[in-house]
Amino acid sequence: MSRPGAAQHRVARLGILLSGRGSNFLAIAKSIESGSLKGLADIAVVIANVEDAPGLAAARELGLPTALFVSKGRKRAEHDADVAACLSEHEVDLVILAGYMRLLSPEFIAAFPNRILNIHPSLLPAFTGLDAQTQAFEYGCTVAGCTVHFVDEHLDHGVIILQRAIPVLETDDAHSLAERILVEEHTAYAEAIARVVSGQYCFEGRRYLRIAEA
Ligand code: GRF
Repeated sequence: MSRPGAAQHRVARLGILLSGRGSNFLAIAKSIESGSLKGLADIAVVIANVEDAPGLAAARELGLPTALFVSKGRKRAEHDADVAACLSEHEVDLVILAGYMRLLSPEFIAAFPNRILNIHPSLLPAFTGLDAQTQAFEYGCTVAGCTVHFVDEHLDHGVIILQRAIPVLETDDAHSLAERILVEEHTAYAEAIARVVSGQYCFEGRRYLRIAEA
């Protein structure tokens, strides 16, 4: 049994990485404002790799520190080094991928061991990669959902923190299914972050185990 999560006694500083609309980021910001993350976490910086990402505009409107590192056309390692330096400058404890549509370099992952989280809109290990909700729908799954996991060097693969399952309804199409999964994502991510920043967990192989408070 290994114990990566030393108990945190200060407010955890989150670095949010996003590429798109940023609804998960906004749900996390709301939980910090008045929900399950209040007093546990703060957003230190929001970093986008796409100039016109609506999530970046939303972060600016909220008055949060933001940074833009356009990744298109750049070498992965060079781009990631800029992002890592920015996260370090902002003294980020936990990196939160919130619709960040870019694979991370091994160097970046190694720089934040067990400190990068991702949310994926499927019940992993099923349906990794893009359009996971459509993949689940077209496969004919009767249950779908989302997964919050630590990020390792493989795609949508690291240790699972929590999953939320919902039924696929006969009336669903891929779009309505994705929308209902997104509703789950918006509470699941904050809950997973709260668990991680508590430090009350350990790993047993690939299993994430919660440690009861003494
Ligand atoms: C979400 O479905 C998330 O699971 C996936 O990318 C999407 C991001 O949506 N990783 P948003 O930008 O947070 O609205």
